[in-house]
Amino acid sequence: MTNLLAYIENNQSIYLEELKDFLRIPSISTDPERKGDIVRCAEWVAGSMKSIGLENIQIFPTEGHPVVYGEHLHAGKDAPTVLFYGHYDVQPVDPLHLWTSAPFEPTVRDGKIFARGAVDDKGQVFMQLKSIEAHLKTNGKLPVNVKVLIEGEEEIGSVHLEEFLRKHAQMLAADTVLISDTAMFADEVPSLCYGLRGLSYMEVTVTGPNRDLHSGVFGGAVANPANALASIITKLIDDYGRITIPGFYDDVLPLTHEERREYAQLPHDEAQYCKELNIPATDGEFGYNTLEKTSARPTLDVNGIWGGFTGEGAKTVLPAKASAKISMRLVPNQNTDDIAKKFEAYVRRIAPPTVHVEVTNLHGGNPAITPIDSKGVKAALRAMERAFGKKPLLTREGGSIPIVLLFQNILNAPVVLMGMGLNTENLHSPDEHFTLKNFYRGISASAFFYEELAK
Ligand code: BES
Ligand code: MN
Ligand code: MN
Repeated sequence: MTNLLAYIENNQSIYLEELKDFLRIPSISTDPERKGDIVRCAEWVAGSMKSIGLENIQIFPTEGHPVVYGEHLHAGKDAPTVLFYGHYDVQPVDPLHLWTSAPFEPTVRDGKIFARGAVDDKGQVFMQLKSIEAHLKTNGKLPVNVKVLIEGEEEIGSVHLEEFLRKHAQMLAADTVLISDTAMFADEVPSLCYGLRGLSYMEVTVTGPNRDLHSGVFGGAVANPANALASIITKLIDDYGRITIPGFYDDVLPLTHEERREYAQLPHDEAQYCKELNIPATDGEFGYNTLEKTSARPTLDVNGIWGGFTGEGAKTVLPAKASAKISMRLVPNQNTDDIAKKFEAYVRRIAPPTVHVEVTNLHGGNPAITPIDSKGVKAALRAMERAFGKKPLLTREGGSIPIVLLFQNILNAPVVLMGMGLNTENLHSPDEHFTLKNFYRGISASAFFYEELAK
């Protein structure tokens, strides 16, 4: 044990340099021009798996981006098997000008490493790989059997991973799935996550006349697609913050009294929250507090909206087209396909008859609750307490990891969500970063996890 900690401590500067190499690869999964970088990144991950001592390393091509696999299965038949899952793909970097240092030139400032993917999820994947290495380099063995699966399509909905899981269920069979792709409740407030929201991501395009028109000559008689789109969007949420799509709440599991009591006990400073975000007040569904609204209640948000003239100055035009990307966060037991269908039917119904609408389902994932009494969660709680010196909280989070429910359903293995990120570390935003002390403690916590699970 002391060996392990000393090893991790002594290697901190090497870890940092290696992590920078990982972060330099612009593996943006949604960008077709980055296909080569994605492949290069998969190869980098495979190389790293080899150098830490994993075996049977394979890069599996899929119809999308490759999946990387490696294993170390020498703890014996009676020892549990852990499948660690993470992703090497990252989100786009725009708006580029808001980054203090370039997104793919990792830079340390103030004890934090800044780069796209620093916390989501390359930093956390690398933390896990190094915890395995620490065991192998200090003891020559691991206390449990370990399988590692790192994919390249999480940020675009893990579209090809379900088929991969079904096809390789034997190879991936495990007693526990470990994921480090979530956040702690706050800095110095370690937590394990036991619930994630799902997602339905839709695109709506409203089309009017066959070309852009002079708004003085035609305005008044010809429906304006941008106006029509805006009116559709405002009808999707009512004055109480409730989503108006018929049947939207049918499958929502209400929070129990017990759960609401636990939510009420979590530390949260509303004034500080608003101040940090520079907003006058919070918004959302009537009757729920901020933590409930951001993790246990469904939402509907416009992610982007465009159409017509957006250049500098004024141009009088009645645009031919307008579009919006609209996502809904889902909670148990809502189903992403069901919600996508209900969304499309309702948007068509409320669209003015003077325009055409097109609705596409871009991707989605189902919400998940993970059992909090599994051996894995108990081991993770002990491991976090050892690394952070505090008992971790159990929390639900608002983000989505589409594959979590499928691990539980296809592999029949309970998932442990042991994340070391912070929700203030700008994931998906400019200046994404990862606090280095949490990165290093995360390596210890993960190394302890394997020890605790073997007990
Ligand atoms: N790591 C995040 C999910 C997350 C973030 C969980 C913060 C808990 C706290 C993941 O990479 C992610 O961003 N997922 C996407 C889902 C997807 C289908 C594009 C998301 O939540 O938007
Ligand atoms: Mn992630
Ligand atoms: Mn993400």
